[in-house]
Amino acid sequence: MKNLKINIQPLSHFYNMPLYESGESAIRGQENVVKLSANENMNGPCDEVLNQFAYYSKKTFEYPDSNHFALRHKIGEVHNIDPNRIICGAGSDEIIQLLCRCFCEQNDEVIYTEHGFLMYKLSALATGAKPVEVKENNRTASIENICTAITAQTKIIFLANPNNPTGTMISEDEIEKLLSKIPSNILLVLDGAYSEYVDSFDGGISLANKFGNLFVTRTFSKIYALGGLRVGWGYGSRDIIDVLNSVRSPFNVSSVGLKMAELSIADVKFVSHQREFNRVNREELRNKLLGLGLKIDQSFANFLLLRLLSEEQANTIDSFLKKKGFILRKVGSYGLPKCLRLSIGNTEVCEKLYLALAEYFDQNDRV
Ligand SMILES: Cc1ncc(COP(=O)(O)O)c(C=O)c1O
Repeated sequence: MKNLKINIQPLSHFYNMPLYESGESAIRGQENVVKLSANENMNGPCDEVLNQFAYYSKKTFEYPDSNHFALRHKIGEVHNIDPNRIICGAGSDEIIQLLCRCFCEQNDEVIYTEHGFLMYKLSALATGAKPVEVKENNRTASIENICTAITAQTKIIFLANPNNPTGTMISEDEIEKLLSKIPSNILLVLDGAYSEYVDSFDGGISLANKFGNLFVTRTFSKIYALGGLRVGWGYGSRDIIDVLNSVRSPFNVSSVGLKMAELSIADVKFVSHQREFNRVNREELRNKLLGLGLKIDQSFANFLLLRLLSEEQANTIDSFLKKKGFILRKVGSYGLPKCLRLSIGNTEVCEKLYLALAEYFDQNDRV
């Protein structure tokens, strides 16, 4: 962005803000496309959401509860945590932005890992803070590298576990190790957008009970399949929650979003079923794709990252798959130009995608 043509100028640090580029969602001229570019759960939401959506849509004339009371209490009940230490947001994106807005100012530093979620950098830049990107080890976060990057200016460290777009994760022991090494005036934000996909993993909630400088973010956009409704939440110390609440807009989450999220979190069987379904499809697809000679890390989330020979090969495969109606995610903006990320679809979609890739490698050089 250069100087605006009108005689009004934005804050100086907004001049060079990059745009968030989301995954493509349509292919021009093609109707029946399969969108595998946004880590969505294509199985759709739980039954109660489907059954009750129409009823609650009739009540959209009412403003939502600005206190998010019912949803916070339901989350508290399911996760056995204090509802007063929970904040709800328009997706976890809003919580990430709020954290930067409330706790960083010009020249503060925000650390995130090399292939971390783009919103960390963008949210830091939007507050005038300096984004600090830390090298990973084979596409996995490195506690040592994070610690080395800490300076007196560091305010927040963002870490997605599992990480998007790599799908890799670090153990709870490593997170605890990191917490024991960082000064208590630095906030560690553990982004758990995909933590429900990991068996027996609480996304760092129990550690947040122990460490006041750990903040956990979660979303209803992934396993709960409510991405279109924009609901996320965060859990941390009461002091942090109070600051965030004083800054957020009062009606930040829609009434339908709040209600559907409440119905979703109550359905714990839905979550375990989706987790298992995803695991089975993901492992089967990964094994078959490894059989084609593709390189793919172990993923703990609802997507796989294909590592190809070159950026050119990634682009060619992307175009080939588009012709077959599949939209994957190019991840050059995550520093991975030779890779393509794909969401785990249902069994039929996984099989069709495998067959399409097998056809490609039948006709072209192996990886
Ligand atoms: C790691 C990570 N964190 C946060 C989000 C934001 O999700 P939402 O704003 O839909 O809650 C995403 C979305 O893709 C993500 O991949």
